Amino acid sequence: MTSLNQQDTIFVNQEADAWYERNAAGATEPAPPNDRILRALSHLTLPAQGILIDVGGSSGRVAEGFRRQYPQWHCRVVEPSGKAIAAGKKAFPHLEFTQGSITQAQGLPWQEATIVVIGGVFCLVDRSLLSRAVANVDLALKDGGYLVISDFDSPFLRANAYKHRSGLYTYKQDYAEIFRQLGIYHLIYRFSETLVDHSSSDLADPYDRQWVTSILRKDLQGRYFRKSE
Ligand SMILES: C[S@@+](CC[C@H](N)C(=O)[O-])C[C@H]1O[C@@H](n2cnc3c(N)ncnc32)[C@H](O)[C@@H]1O
Repeated sequence: MTSLNQQDTIFVNQEADAWYERNAAGATEPAPPNDRILRALSHLTLPAQGILIDVGGSSGRVAEGFRRQYPQWHCRVVEPSGKAIAAGKKAFPHLEFTQGSITQAQGLPWQEATIVVIGGVFCLVDRSLLSRAVANVDLALKDGGYLVISDFDSPFLRANAYKHRSGLYTYKQDYAEIFRQLGIYHLIYRFSETLVDHSSSDLADPYDRQWVTSILRKDLQGRYFRKSE
């Protein structure tokens, strides 16, 4: 069992770079239109201009894939790995990068995003900082904006030992539901798929090999029933 914040310290300071190095092949190619996050976003009618923030966006391949479809959007990446950022800055000069963590105490560096993307990050967040990660994401997204969460789709809470480093865990649960329960997010898209190849899953277990991409729309006021005064 990890001690308080240990998973966060290790991910932010070491494992983020290690993840990038293991996955560097293809990291400097923009994500294709059939990427699961870009495919999900293709269901929305988006304005010509906006701001997208990819949190834990590595070298920016998803952000760049989106930017090529929406060249007038400003696309930003927050990522702890200095190595991923260095590669991304070189490959994708139109993106803006900042080194940081979804869990940081000062919040994310940018706010008022039209879209926030979080792909495969919540499952890695230290449980002692999960509520702060949720708050940081919420504060970065503007009212009326879209939150894209792509992560494991487990029917129950599950902590799988992280294969690449002992003492760390991949935490699987319904992260979109956390936002939905706030009342100010409603689900507008959900696509669950079966993984055929993933190091953090037992592919022989049907409850451990699903992945889900969800889009939630933020609406601070409109969902409340109001009695007239
Ligand atoms: C499974 S990879 C997914 C990368 C990318 N989002 C994608 O969908 O291809 C997880 C990413 O989250 C980053 N990460 C890990 N801990 C993080 C944290 N505390 N805050 C932000 N990103 C984090 C890793 O460095 C890595 O880039």
